[in-house]
Amino acid sequence: MLAPLAADPRGRRRLRFWSAGCSTGEEPYSIAMTVLEALPDASRWDVRILATDLDSEVLERARRGIYPPERMSNVSPERLQRFFIERHEAGGDGRQIAPEVASLVTFKQLNLIHTLPMKGPLDAIFCRNVVIYFDKETQRELFARIARLQRPGDLLFLGHSESLFKVCDSYALIGKTIHRRA
Ligand SMILES: C[S@@+](CC[C@H](N)C(=O)[O-])C[C@H]1O[C@@H](n2cnc3c(N)ncnc32)[C@H](O)[C@@H]1O
Repeated sequence: MLAPLAADPRGRRRLRFWSAGCSTGEEPYSIAMTVLEALPDASRWDVRILATDLDSEVLERARRGIYPPERMSNVSPERLQRFFIERHEAGGDGRQIAPEVASLVTFKQLNLIHTLPMKGPLDAIFCRNVVIYFDKETQRELFARIARLQRPGDLLFLGHSESLFKVCDSYALIGKTIHRRA
């Protein structure tokens, strides 16, 4: 995901991501971990990940960043070791996202049906498994607004069962779920 962005010929050291419909935070935190793994000198980059959701309750859990063991089964031992802190209070054995990761992510409440308040450009937008709930016209309006936040070459990630076919022609499909702004 980061290779084309990190290899920017203009030598930029600024990366902006948006996880739209971030639920309890796994998506933006895993973006943050990918950034930290891919950029050994990440501290010299200006990286920000905006994570939004409609639901204030999932956002509260996302901000806390504590996950029970059953939610950690897909996390590699290397990531567990590097990016999580063990939490044993209340008799549980959950793990909390480390400050190095959490500091890259800002959570905000946002309804995607409304005007998008953020300014672009955004290098990559993750809008995965959210628009399945929207009718086609709502999807068209949303992706027209999303496209205005990106420059040619920027990336948009959708869920496996989601598509821009007959919804938005501002992107080219470059992978199963990856779209590049035309
Ligand atoms: C299935 S989860 C997807 C989580 C994550 N993107 C993923 O793929 O794992 C869908 C999320 O979209 C949020 N959502 C649904 N309608 C929304 C809307 N109109 N605006 C913002 N978020 C919305 C829900 O609250 C939920 O957290």
